[in-house]
Amino acid sequence: MPAMTTILAIETSCDETAAAVIRDGRAMLSNVIASQVDLHAPYGGVFPELASRAHTEVISAVVAQAMAEAQCDYSDLDALAVTQGPGLVGSLLVGINFAKGLALATGLPLLGVNHLEGHIYSLWLAPDFEQPDFPLLALIVSGGHSELAIMTGHGAYQRLGGTIDDAAGEAFDKIGRLLGLPFPGGPAIENAAATGDPRAYRFPRAKTDGPYDLSFSGLKTAVMRAVTVQPSGGRDKRRRGAEREAPLRDDVNIADVAAAFQDALTDALVAAACRAARDFDPRQVLLAGGVSANALLRQKLSAALDLPVYYPPLPLCTDNAAMIGAAARFRLRAGFSSSLDFEARPSWRLSEDVYAGDLSRA
Ligand code: KG4
Ligand code: ZN
Repeated sequence: MPAMTTILAIETSCDETAAAVIRDGRAMLSNVIASQVDLHAPYGGVFPELASRAHTEVISAVVAQAMAEAQCDYSDLDALAVTQGPGLVGSLLVGINFAKGLALATGLPLLGVNHLEGHIYSLWLAPDFEQPDFPLLALIVSGGHSELAIMTGHGAYQRLGGTIDDAAGEAFDKIGRLLGLPFPGGPAIENAAATGDPRAYRFPRAKTDGPYDLSFSGLKTAVMRAVTVQPSGGRDKRRRGAEREAPLRDDVNIADVAAAFQDALTDALVAAACRAARDFDPRQVLLAGGVSANALLRQKLSAALDLPVYYPPLPLCTDNAAMIGAAARFRLRAGFSSSLDFEARPSWRLSEDVYAGDLSRA
């Protein structure tokens, strides 16, 4: 293995087409992201069929731009990496097939990377995160996932729990849509909440059987009941998805609801992280994923834990390929690569098998 490791990474698991060139798992030579937010905004969520089509249209240009900005030739690279899962299968396949084609054409080794592991490694791209001090506690909160895991070394994860219904970002997006705010709901709710009073409403904090599990459907229902005109006949007659159509009551103060919702959701996340920190005694805590951009969550987590807590740089909280390149560097260093017949793993969990699966040791 050469002293410097340069990896081209590709990420297409959801609605960003992204490519990045990463040196030694820490330096971003380039980081290109083509967002599909405008495409999905009219639907208030990601439309899978449109997502994969849009990835196909731009992936070639996104990869070319990442190589050009890094001033790289394929002969300068040591490996290729691509998100193998979890994510939308049609979207994952676009990146995987493109990366396999590149691997065949260049002869470079290809690594399939777990997207959740990628989010954790976004911290390796944060200037203030100097060294991991294992075991560490990772809380990944994104549009598709809310996961708590103990990481005992590179590639060694013990999943503690996660959401049993909506992911944290998904809850932000659904409440944003209910309040008539633009998609994605997370940043829109954070903005609206800035002028609201979180004490104007008291929404429930999730209770689950598993101490490290999370649930946001009760919170979502409570917000919906508080702010919408209830149909006559009571809630039993409500149709599924009725929150989309239900009109808001005239007296609703959007800023107050946003602030109270954000307060309840972040309380639930912080409580689960505190329980895990108390029970597993980690040396550091890493927060990652789109919702880790939320300032209130950062503030509460740092205040509640008597431990160093690290956050990704804001542009690397949401999906990007730089984090996939950072994670891939440690797989490569451990001597792993993927055979070219690996498949997308849409439901790949963060667990011990993250380093097993389709990877083989060279
Ligand atoms: O990590 P990500 O790009 O996608 C997945 O892997 O799922 O996360 C996107 C999610 C969206 O649900 C978005 O609403 C949420 O992250 N998000 C936020 C903020 N910025 C993005 N949630 C709360 N506060 C924010 N500032
Ligand atoms: Zn993500």
